[in-house]
Amino acid sequence: MHKLVRSARFAVKTLRQTSLCARTITTTPFPEFADLSQLKSHDDLHKFSLENPEQFWGRLALSRLQWDEEFQSVLNCELEKGEIDWFLGGKLNASVNCVDRHLATRGDQLALIWERDEPGTEEYVTYRELSEMVGQIANVLRNSGVKKGGRVAIYLPMAPITVATMLACARIGAVHSVVFAGFSAEALASRIQDAEVETVVTADQGVRGGRIIPLKQAVDAAVAQCPSVKRVFVYQRTGADVPMGPKDIPLEKAMSGESTECAPVSLASEDTLFMLYTSGSTGKPKGIAHSIAGYLLYVATTFKHVFDYQPGERFGCVADIGWITGHSYALYGPLCCGATTLLFESSPIYPNPGRYWEMVQRLQLNHIYLAPTSLRLLLKAGDSWVNKYDLSSLRTLGCVGEPLNHEAWDWYYEVVGQKRCDVIDTWWQTETGGICISPRPSSPGAHIEPGMPMRPFFGIKPVLVDEKNEEVNGEDVEGALCLGSLWPGMARTIYGDHQRYIETYLKPCPGLYYTGDGAHRHKGGNYQITGRMDDVVNVTGHRLGTAELEDIMDTHPDVAESAVVGFPHDIKGEGIFAFVVLKEGVKHSHDDIAQALRAAVKQGIASYAQPDFILFTNGLPWTRSGKIMRRILRKIASNQADELGDVSTLADPSVVEGIVKGYKALH
Ligand code: PRX
Repeated sequence: MHKLVRSARFAVKTLRQTSLCARTITTTPFPEFADLSQLKSHDDLHKFSLENPEQFWGRLALSRLQWDEEFQSVLNCELEKGEIDWFLGGKLNASVNCVDRHLATRGDQLALIWERDEPGTEEYVTYRELSEMVGQIANVLRNSGVKKGGRVAIYLPMAPITVATMLACARIGAVHSVVFAGFSAEALASRIQDAEVETVVTADQGVRGGRIIPLKQAVDAAVAQCPSVKRVFVYQRTGADVPMGPKDIPLEKAMSGESTECAPVSLASEDTLFMLYTSGSTGKPKGIAHSIAGYLLYVATTFKHVFDYQPGERFGCVADIGWITGHSYALYGPLCCGATTLLFESSPIYPNPGRYWEMVQRLQLNHIYLAPTSLRLLLKAGDSWVNKYDLSSLRTLGCVGEPLNHEAWDWYYEVVGQKRCDVIDTWWQTETGGICISPRPSSPGAHIEPGMPMRPFFGIKPVLVDEKNEEVNGEDVEGALCLGSLWPGMARTIYGDHQRYIETYLKPCPGLYYTGDGAHRHKGGNYQITGRMDDVVNVTGHRLGTAELEDIMDTHPDVAESAVVGFPHDIKGEGIFAFVVLKEGVKHSHDDIAQALRAAVKQGIASYAQPDFILFTNGLPWTRSGKIMRRILRKIASNQADELGDVSTLADPSVVEGIVKGYKALH
């Protein structure tokens, strides 16, 4: 059962009318439905997509993907069992769809613009060059023994080689599992072990914000704990002299001996394209698995229509490929549509807070897609960093990952976009594959409401549900956000644990896909996301399970128990607050233990996961039935101790007083 919506975490503001109403919004029509004369408006088409998913997605699949063999059926589904099949009988290859089919018409067009860490050193890759790189890497992988279905862990910086490696896996039917290159060796090792990975692709070092990231060193430490790994390909990003062991193979050298042509494997629609780990509320991160045809169709369609991408434009998604946003909107969506896409290796504040805007001017980007966290950070740095540059190439200002607060929305619209560009706040998840709620596409001239993603995409039916699992109807209401339709981009399973997939997404509200988020449906049917309802914290747009953090802290020899919650943070969206109870007779100082705990989290996950605050306390608010009442901890961490509510079910209510005192002393 899901819990009550925690709307207080992201208070829903009263809506304001803006001057946007009169503006015209461009929306590219769907040529696939031009013959259906009864579909006169955007709303007609949306209704049609929900009532006739097979016709809607079937027509799009035929026209937007290139098939080796056409599918026999559009959708087969037994939802209770989590068996969801799109386009059965169809055969295709994702790398052919993203590269080969563009060669005849746009072989010399740019596929990738690599914005390297050092500004002004960008590199360009055409579709033909990308095709050659993909062919060589695919041959390297195949000839070294990587087979269809084999898992390949990719631990690389944001670079063309990374995209080419992912597409090379897709070409031979191997399953890529990209691990964000900011994750620690331990986090990498646990992902390698979970998927019994045999092949790892990494680089000597990464570079970000002028700092060196010792990638190969981390891989060495990880591989030492992973007997399944047979080979490690090492790409030279910096050319550093890194030690090479018996399993290590220099990637460029291996590529140079291979042909640039590699015959693609014809794969079934439902074969797995990739897996990507994300945090849940319990246990270890889960390997979310996406299948080829449905995912590709969904990201290509949303890319085209949410951003209204036009041929020849330059699309700038600045997310790292280690996250789903990078997969869907830096790689698969744009390349499937034959677009020119950016790979951003740096940081929004390197060498200064003008980085994005200087880059937009220099590279003439038409769309930018970023995270609210970086907007909030840049907003604080002041308007002058934006005003220095000519941003007239921009058409769309996209964002994703966390609620976009009004102040940041206004700044994005007024200062960055000069009131010329649409602000497109997109809601979706690793599990949904692509964008599900966003202001676009919408009927021409439709109003964009600040501070919310607003409208469901075609084929998406948001449903709000209350604590009794009943649908909440009407407007100006809140509930647990579920999706009441099936869409081709949804994840098919959690790698190695299909039961967990069913329990997490399909069981909480039978018949619906359960997102874990709360939402508010405003007047006019527009949706605003109120935040996570489970024990997941969203730090700088990245999901972290509180249980993961607690596991790490609890292993410290001085720690008896710990509880971690999120609290609203000006820049990061949410910060991490850890409450820690020490064992009796501990000799180390609190400062030393706090430092050790932060280091342990950095080592176990990544630096961004380190707690902002650690409060040592004599006890945690356990209920008599043996649960920690996190609601109380969240209130205290959010400086709302005067709103704790009923604490009478606690085993020892006096514990709360001690924690509140401790909080006051800390601040
Ligand atoms: O809580 C929602 C938040 O990010 C979660 C998904 O995280 P992840 O799988 O890492 O994917 C992030 C990029 C797609 C969601 O459950 N979230 C995402 N977009 C928004 C958002 N919260 C509010 N507004 C958004 N636009």
